[in-house]
Amino acid sequence: MSMAGGVAAADINGKDGGSNPTPTRAPPLKPKLLRPLLLLAVLATGFLAVVVLLLGGSAYSVLPRLPVPNAAALPSSRQRAVQQPCGKPRPLERWTRAPASAWHNMTDEELLWAASWRPAIGKYPYRRVPKVAFMFLTRGPLPLAPLWERFFAGAGGKELYSVYVHATPGYRHDFPAASPFHRRQVPSQVARWGDTSMADAERRLVANALLDPGNQRFVLLSESCVPLYGFPVVRHYLTRSRHSFVGAFDDPGPHGRGRYRAGLAPEVRRSQWRKGAQWFELGRDLAVAFVADERYYPKFKEHCRAPCYMDEHYLPTVLSVEAPHRIANRSVTWVDWSRGGAHPATFGERDVDEAFLRRITAPGKAQGECTYNGQPADVCFLFARKFAPNTLKPLLSLAPKMLGYG
Ligand SMILES: *[C@@H]1O[C@H](CO)[C@@H](O)[C@H](O)[C@H]1NC(C)=O
Ligand SMILES: *[C@@H]1O[C@H](CO)[C@@H](O)[C@H](O)[C@H]1NC(C)=O
Repeated sequence: MSMAGGVAAADINGKDGGSNPTPTRAPPLKPKLLRPLLLLAVLATGFLAVVVLLLGGSAYSVLPRLPVPNAAALPSSRQRAVQQPCGKPRPLERWTRAPASAWHNMTDEELLWAASWRPAIGKYPYRRVPKVAFMFLTRGPLPLAPLWERFFAGAGGKELYSVYVHATPGYRHDFPAASPFHRRQVPSQVARWGDTSMADAERRLVANALLDPGNQRFVLLSESCVPLYGFPVVRHYLTRSRHSFVGAFDDPGPHGRGRYRAGLAPEVRRSQWRKGAQWFELGRDLAVAFVADERYYPKFKEHCRAPCYMDEHYLPTVLSVEAPHRIANRSVTWVDWSRGGAHPATFGERDVDEAFLRRITAPGKAQGECTYNGQPADVCFLFARKFAPNTLKPLLSLAPKMLGYG
C-alpha cells in the first residue's frame, strides 16, 4: 500500500466515539418548579466554587486557557464504557485488546506489517477512549522519569495513556512495578544521530505503539523532554486536535532545500522539500501511513544521507505532499535556539526557577503565535527540551505550582 492510499482512506471524523457530548434541549419548566431548581443551582455553584478553591489552589490558577472546553475534566463516564462488565468478555475483545507487555520477539519486518493493519470502516462500533502513546527515544537512562511519573499520576489510572521506551540495545531499565515505565521497553536497534537508523528507530517506536488499538495520538519524546502542563490538559489538547503536530517549513538555504537530493524525484521535487524538528506528534491514521509507507521511505533511506537528515526532512516533506491539511506545520515541543549554533540550548539546574517556567508557559510570550483547530491559541507547546539530569530537583519542587502537576 502506498502512503497516498493510506492517507486518502483516512477519516478523522467519528473516530473517538462519544467525545462530543450531544447537546440536549431541556423541555420548558413549569414556573412552580423553577424557583426551587434555581435555588438548588445557586447552592450547587457555590459548593463547586468552594471545592475548586480548596482542591485547585494555586496550581489551578496557572493552568492555561485552552481553546477547548473544560480541559481539566477527565472523561470518567466514558472510561467506564470500555471496562469489562462483570468479567463478561467484550465481543470485540480480540480486536481491541492491548498487548500485555511492550516486549515481543517480532523482527522489524514482522512488526511493521502487524502495525500497518487498520479498520477500513472509519466509525468504531464501540465507545473508544482515545489514549495517548508517549514514545521515549533514548540512549539509555531516563533521568527525568520521576517528574514524568508525577505527570502520569495525574491521569488517574492507566486507561488514558501508554508508554514506550526505545533505548540502546542491551540497556535494561529497572523501574519498580508501580512505575508507568515498568516493562515498557521495546526491542531496539542502534540509532545514530544524523543517520537513517534514527528514522528507523522512530518508525519502530510508532509501530510498537500502534499494536495497542486504543492509542490514538503518538508523541515522540527524548530523555531531556519535560511536560509543561498536567496530564488532562495535554491529553485534551492532543485528542481534540484536528491536526497532527509535525513541524514543516520551506527553508530555501543550504540547510533546507540545499539538502534535497535529485534521486528523490519524481516522488519528491525540490519545491516540495520541507524541514521540521524531529519531535513529532501524529494521529493514528498518519502513524499507520508512516509505518506502511513503501513509496517514499525506501527512497529516503537510499538518498537522504548526511548532510541530508531523514529525521528532519522525511515526515515534514512527505506529509506536506500527501496530507498537507492534516498537519499543523508546527511542533508541540518547545526548544530554545536563541543561543545559536548547531544544537539548541540545554538547561541546567541554575536555569530552572519560577521566572523561567513562567516564561516558557506564559501565553503569548515564549509560546509565540499559533493556531489550534483554526483558532488563535494561547498554548502552543505542551513539552519542552532540553533539560539536563540535574534539573530534576528544581523541576520536582516547582511542578505543582508552576506546571499543574506533581
Ligand atoms: C521471546 O523469546 C524468548 C526466547 O525464545 C522467550 O523466552 C520469551 O518468552 C519470548 N518473549 C515473548 C514476549 O514472546
Ligand atoms: C500546513 O501547510 C500546508 C502547506 O504545506 C497547508 O496547506 C496547510 O493548511 C497548513 N496547515 C495548517 C493547519 O495551517
